[in-house]
Amino acid sequence: MVEFVVRSARHEEGDFVTEVFRLLTLEMEQYGGREATMNESSWGRVTIDIRNELKSDKSKFLIAETADSNRIGLAAIAIVNLRGAFTPKTIIHLRFVYVQPSFRGVGVGSKLIFAALEWGRRVGGDYCDLNVLAENPARSLYKKFGFSEVTVNMIKAL
Ligand SMILES: CC(C)(COP(=O)(O)OP(=O)(O)OC[C@H]1O[C@@H](n2cnc3c(N)ncnc32)[C@H](O)[C@@H]1OP(=O)(O)O)[C@@H](O)C(=O)NCCC(=O)NCCS
Repeated sequence: MVEFVVRSARHEEGDFVTEVFRLLTLEMEQYGGREATMNESSWGRVTIDIRNELKSDKSKFLIAETADSNRIGLAAIAIVNLRGAFTPKTIIHLRFVYVQPSFRGVGVGSKLIFAALEWGRRVGGDYCDLNVLAENPARSLYKKFGFSEVTVNMIKAL
């Protein structure tokens, strides 16, 4: 049994969030995700964006951390306001959830998703949505939380 808490990421944790985002992007390639860039300056720009998002009240990063300060998981969430052609709604977009491979299967991802949904309710979200690759086994985890499939994203090589 792993003891851990879920806490908000601190402003200065941009490098950690970028590192996790990079691991996630690489791992998603196996499920048909877009190829991750190997260009360091691109990742530098991603870090700058993430540092800004860490200070924004429209974004939230939740970290699962063990008592010995090992950051074993991360969830990224953002508030998206639907307007224009749509009835105004506040959508909580679950951007990603990632758990260190050696800590998977013991409830860390579930606790992060639970905390993300809690945060979404607290900030007045009407819905939570997410994108997941068709081949990703994480789909079953999302379904356990009550997510259902609404859109299908199609792609074709040119
Ligand atoms: C998806 C992920 C966050 C789940 O984290 P976790 O801590 O293992 O999740 P939990 O222990 O709370 O729940 C495990 C459930 O996840 C699902 N699952 C996700 N990926 C799985 C995999 N590769 N193999 C088997 N089950 C998987 C199963 O439904 C499993 O349920 P079960 O234990 O009842 O079989 C983790 O596998 C991960 O980081 N994957 C890589 C990143 C990713 O795919 N993120 C989601 C898309 S953004």
